[in-house]
Amino acid sequence: MVFSEGTRMLAESGPSIDDLVASMTLEEKCALTVGGDNWHTAGVPRLGIPAVKMTDGPNGARGETAGGLSVTPSVCIPSATALGATWDPELVRQASAAMANQALEKGARVLLAPTVNLHRHPLWGRNFEAFSEDPLLTAKLAVGYIRGVQDLGVIATVKHLVGNEAEFERNTVTSEIDERSLRELYLLPFEYAVRVAGVLTVMTSYNRVNGEFASDDRGLLDGILRGEWGFEGFVMTDWRAIITTGKAALAGLDLEMPAPPRGFGPALEAAVRSGEVPEDVVDAKAIRMLRTFDRVNALHGSQAEDEQPSDRAEDRALARRAAAEGIVLLANDGMLPLDASRVRRVALIGPNAARLAIMGGGSARVVPHYCLSLPDVLADRLGAAAAVRLATGTDPHVPGGSVEDEPDATARLDEAVEAARWADTAIVVVGTDDLVESEGYDRDSMALPWRQDELVRAVLEANPRTVVVVNSGAVVDLPWTDRAAAVLQTWFGGQELANALADVILGEADPGGRLPTSWPLRIEHSPAFGNFPGENSAVRYGEGLLVGYRWYETRHLPVRFPFGHGLSYTTFDIGEPALSATYVPLGERLRVSVPVTNTGSRRGSEVIQLYIAPPGAGQMHAEWRFRPAKELKAFAKVRLDPDQTTTVTLELGPRAFAHYDSADPGWPALSARKPGYVFLHRPPRPVLHRACAGWYVAEGDYELHIGRSSADIAHIVTVRVDGGDQPLDPAILPD
Ligand code: GLC
Repeated sequence: MVFSEGTRMLAESGPSIDDLVASMTLEEKCALTVGGDNWHTAGVPRLGIPAVKMTDGPNGARGETAGGLSVTPSVCIPSATALGATWDPELVRQASAAMANQALEKGARVLLAPTVNLHRHPLWGRNFEAFSEDPLLTAKLAVGYIRGVQDLGVIATVKHLVGNEAEFERNTVTSEIDERSLRELYLLPFEYAVRVAGVLTVMTSYNRVNGEFASDDRGLLDGILRGEWGFEGFVMTDWRAIITTGKAALAGLDLEMPAPPRGFGPALEAAVRSGEVPEDVVDAKAIRMLRTFDRVNALHGSQAEDEQPSDRAEDRALARRAAAEGIVLLANDGMLPLDASRVRRVALIGPNAARLAIMGGGSARVVPHYCLSLPDVLADRLGAAAAVRLATGTDPHVPGGSVEDEPDATARLDEAVEAARWADTAIVVVGTDDLVESEGYDRDSMALPWRQDELVRAVLEANPRTVVVVNSGAVVDLPWTDRAAAVLQTWFGGQELANALADVILGEADPGGRLPTSWPLRIEHSPAFGNFPGENSAVRYGEGLLVGYRWYETRHLPVRFPFGHGLSYTTFDIGEPALSATYVPLGERLRVSVPVTNTGSRRGSEVIQLYIAPPGAGQMHAEWRFRPAKELKAFAKVRLDPDQTTTVTLELGPRAFAHYDSADPGWPALSARKPGYVFLHRPPRPVLHRACAGWYVAEGDYELHIGRSSADIAHIVTVRVDGGDQPLDPAILPD
């Protein structure tokens, strides 16, 4: 085979990428900045630079699509809220490695995941696709996910940078977010992805951030992403999200996806020729892209085009374990786990009993290798001695959803009630599905659709031995929980959800999940209520730092279930924490050791959570800066046999105590203005004005709240932390 000059160059143990780019024409370099089609980069055929294939998404490698659906099946792991509920970065790393393997089998070298936006509001359509309301839990799980993908030589894409917490007018809206909330909440998972996990690509969001489109935002891309965090990979747009040519090029955007070119490609070439964009800016884009592909050896050899996804036993086992580890036992009067040897008549009721929702809608949707039937799985597990009767009780997606619209609604409900009366055990599976929870639109209500509340109440009335299984991707209103013997939340649990649910219900797996998101009593209590989804093309993040539990705890608002909540089938004792020091000098680390004992009779798992309450936390006139009542700063999951004790070690680095200060360098000039009159009946409060933005540690006593949810705290210990009026060294990593 006669190699073209470039191919020969590529073939001979990697010429320098810089030399390769130097050999490219301007047209070729600009062509590289636009996708070659919907899922590939363009490549440079003359030089043997291949097109590189990308694929969605977070819970399955879609591969090529036709009509929005994958053309080949995929391993379908639990969606992000389920992975979020595992509180287990190592398990998430294993799950994402399965995604990466499937991507490779489909010829893809880039996996467009993970999604690290936050559950700012319960009704965001893509909550299922994001891990949590909390930035640290999101960040730690994202690091696990990215490592799992990139360890297999697939490029991960952390998305969507930034402020993409609603679907409503996502292409035009501006997310109005103050600097502290941006840094401490919405950018934090991206910072971890870049600085801790070494993510190789970033996808910008559709929306504007404080008035600037993310793909045009130089302060965000060249400033924070590259300048502060040292990001060396490349930045791509979300699909068809590019807005400008020169501005985006100068802002630091590298790749417009997908084809055909709208802002880059020929338009970028023209911008160079006109002098608007220096050619070396384009060179840098080509170099970043090719260096990134070269790091995973994606520039050599042909990409397998025919997709050959495998349905591996190890992937099935992993999907099943991950689903069970994410199932949250919200309430239990002791009815669970069921004793299979004593169950004889099971009424399996509800629309989702007949068809479990295993994923959400939109670009995360895949075609799974197989679908499991919960009725069949349960019947098989209970054996011939037990009878399982299925009654859907209501019909999902009946237009209008009212009884009048559904001629046999009463009959369905009666059938379900009759089944419940007949049964010694009733299992009602309610929830949503990939049409209710999807990319592209937000939910209008937290209420369960399809008249399911009516169904649940009727079944609870008919049989007090009723387990309610909630099969939704995000939180839904559960007004009847106090009347149910047990309540489980499964999330969109992936292809093995039926097996995992049976494992948990029958006690073969402990419900390992803990809520990654707060469960409000009513939507009006939620932090963003009134500022969601936005109006006049703006969504104001008016709650500021108080996302999720930070809001409920700081404002002393009750919730139905708190962040971090989840029961096990066993019990645990969280012993007295031991601190490596009672005084932490500025810039030093603190180690907290916590003994944990399984005090029950079954093996189970527990998540030990550590929250900090800085000096003045939750108070209005804090001497330092306003801080939420508490903030999650470390956690660890343990799995113990009865009577077994282990010691959990939680590390707090300098950033764990820090807050971001956007500073106000204009204060000296402002303060020169003398007030015309001063009514001072008390000495003026010391007010902090800083000249230099950065991460600061307030000096004082920090409470460390250690427990099993944000509201279930076993111990509070205090540590003195040295502060400083200078920002932390920017080189200090978050950890
Ligand atoms: C979609 C999504 C993004 C996805 C991309 C490709 O609009 O926002 O997450 O990766 O387009 O499908």
